[in-house]
Amino acid sequence: VPSIGYGSFPLFKQWRGAIGFMLHPVAYMKEGYAKHKDSYFKISTLQDEYVIVSDKEKIAEYLAAPDHVLNFQDGANDAVQIPWTMGYGVAHRTYHVPAVRITLTQHIAANIAGMLEQIHEGMDTLIGKPADWVEVPIYDVIVKIVAKVSNRAFSGTLLCQNEQHLNNAIAYAQDVFLSSEIIRAFPNWLKPFLIMLTPIYRRRRLAIKLMGSIVQERLDTDYEAQGKKKPDDMIQWLVDSAPPIERTMPQIVERIMALNVASIHTTTMTLTSALYILGAEWEKYTPILRAEVRQHCEGGEITKQTLGKLVKLDSFLRESGRFNNTGLVSLNRNARKEFRFKDGTVIPAGARVGAPSLAIHNDPQYYLEPEKFDGFRFSRMREESAKPMKHQMVSTDIDYLPFGHGKHACPGRFFAVNEMKLIFANLLLRYDLKLIPGTAPARMFIGTMAIPETKLKVLMRSIPIQKSHAAAEA
Ligand code: HEM
Repeated sequence: VPSIGYGSFPLFKQWRGAIGFMLHPVAYMKEGYAKHKDSYFKISTLQDEYVIVSDKEKIAEYLAAPDHVLNFQDGANDAVQIPWTMGYGVAHRTYHVPAVRITLTQHIAANIAGMLEQIHEGMDTLIGKPADWVEVPIYDVIVKIVAKVSNRAFSGTLLCQNEQHLNNAIAYAQDVFLSSEIIRAFPNWLKPFLIMLTPIYRRRRLAIKLMGSIVQERLDTDYEAQGKKKPDDMIQWLVDSAPPIERTMPQIVERIMALNVASIHTTTMTLTSALYILGAEWEKYTPILRAEVRQHCEGGEITKQTLGKLVKLDSFLRESGRFNNTGLVSLNRNARKEFRFKDGTVIPAGARVGAPSLAIHNDPQYYLEPEKFDGFRFSRMREESAKPMKHQMVSTDIDYLPFGHGKHACPGRFFAVNEMKLIFANLLLRYDLKLIPGTAPARMFIGTMAIPETKLKVLMRSIPIQKSHAAAEA
């Protein structure tokens, strides 16, 4: 497999590639994709060497490989040192995946009223009702609202109001990253001890202090025998589905915190990047998106049915996911055993494989004028297609990778998309939002990872709340 940026000097080739990639990650990926679009190329980062698979059919081929050959979890475990930072069980016993994919998704409609309550409370306290334009640190606002909304679905009203828990959940992900970098270079036998000196250890203890009694009560209560109504939230679904070895208070707490890591910053990054785009072209997009929300409100309220009808908003979010992209490489898998493609190319055991998501999302073969943000690209595709659902935000494909694709595609995406639409639609009903003239979000990558713009402030002002068209006409 040909490499990018390794140079011709035989010694230190991989190091040279890694330093070059650190300095010019986007250019390296573009070069590799341009030269080897129908096949493979190799890049080196400071941590790993990746075989990047560019061709759609070859990507499908490696995605179909079983986990004991090309493994999803090993890569994640290694990237943020999950067995030590988030817990051994989180790394090796992933029973939370069906709880998210099936149970959380089935409860979206039932959770809407509670989620709306958190959204309004968050907007009232964090943005208020400014009559004139004010500067708002939008990432900080959205991350807080997302934390409240997600925790409402995870634990009813128990945790979403607890400021200390919300701050702990927001900071948890950052401390997982930081602590993983601190322990990474040491041998595995030392890591259980070293982790106690890192920030994540303190966060885990705080999580146990804040949630321990709630979880313990769930573990101790036999709801059926006592004729009590069983709570219907993520804590309970985890308690009910945990294998016996995981049915302890600290492990269930760990698991809830891991779900906070999986959901809070991912959802916030995706939504704020869409809001930055809205802010850059606010006069073009706001009236159309706002009219759509107003048209489909029921009695002035956004309902699950409303969310299903917001085709233009869905398209705007999906296009933002394509345009902004969450990283340079997706669909990372670690080879536990040698994997052989049909054309004979071999991925040796121990190697990492990935797909060049940024390059794919910007390939004119898949998207007309990919360099342009076209908010209604996907709603038009939906109108023109025999399979309209293929173009909605939750649908993954090899040419649409923000949620991954295949058997490990994000199981939380149904929840996340509804959550983002709920927040976005309510922002449209309550506020105008535009960028401060002369500002724009920064686009940065460290290695293959996209670094979100978290500091940019936007201008917001309150608008008079109108009833829906239907309600107004009635
Ligand atoms: C906009 C928000 C989100 C984005 C962009 C996102 C993105 C992703 C991506 C790219 C993957 C890896 C897929 C692959 O490599 O094939 C993933 C996996 C995962 N996500 Fe999400 N995610 C989001 C929200 C959520 C939420 C809200 C939850 C939970 C409530 C969640 C839980 C998970 C889990 C558990 C996995 C691992 C799946 C497995 O082990 O098979 N995610 N996500």
